[in-house]
Amino acid sequence: MMLRMTGVGDITICPMSDADLDEVLAIEAVSYPKPWTREHFLDELNSPFASPLVALDGEGRVAGYLCPMLLLDEAQILNVAVRPDLRSHGLGRLLIESLLDDYRNRGASVLSLEVRVSNEPARILYRKLGFTETGRRPKYYENGEDAILMEYIFDQPGDGDAV
Ligand SMILES: CC(C)(COP(=O)(O)OP(=O)(O)OC[C@H]1O[C@@H](n2cnc3c(N)ncnc32)[C@H](O)[C@@H]1OP(=O)(O)O)[C@@H](O)C(=O)NCCC(=O)NCCS
Repeated sequence: MMLRMTGVGDITICPMSDADLDEVLAIEAVSYPKPWTREHFLDELNSPFASPLVALDGEGRVAGYLCPMLLLDEAQILNVAVRPDLRSHGLGRLLIESLLDDYRNRGASVLSLEVRVSNEPARILYRKLGFTETGRRPKYYENGEDAILMEYIFDQPGDGDAV
């Protein structure tokens, strides 16, 4: 899928490949206190349940990425990040919305994730997309911070039909 976004230019969403990993790792390193390693991403690329995506800019450079997985009808977002200079232009929303479309078509019923209590930008993004906060894991992260559990419930076929 290719589209033009204000402030960002042309963006293409496509499956992540080995060739993207150097740029993905550079974004990962500046996005998280405990970044994933190359092996983490290789595991996702090789997993039959995972479908990692990248957003590429007009020059083919990685603008952001998303690592989700779907097992039967239960999905999870394991990782999502946008290149710092391109944040707040709608790329995070675009990546997750394209995943919601894809997983809805593939029969997912729920999409869950964990987010740091302190990560307001991510919590706001997920809330705006329709996720709700469903729980909390105390001291989940390496710095003792709690994780908030969030869930998106997919509409079932027929929801909203007149009875
Ligand atoms: C979280 C992250 C992926 C969001 O990506 P992004 O491209 O900047 O987000 P978007 O521009 O799509 O923003 C989507 C919505 O979230 C809100 N939002 C995003 N960043 C925000 C910020 N810093 N402060 C307040 N609201 C913010 C916006 O209001 C926006 O709403 P709108 O679409 O109605 O305008 C990005 O900040 C990031 O890479 N963070 C580091 C990695 C990380 O924390 N990942 C999540 C781990 S759970």
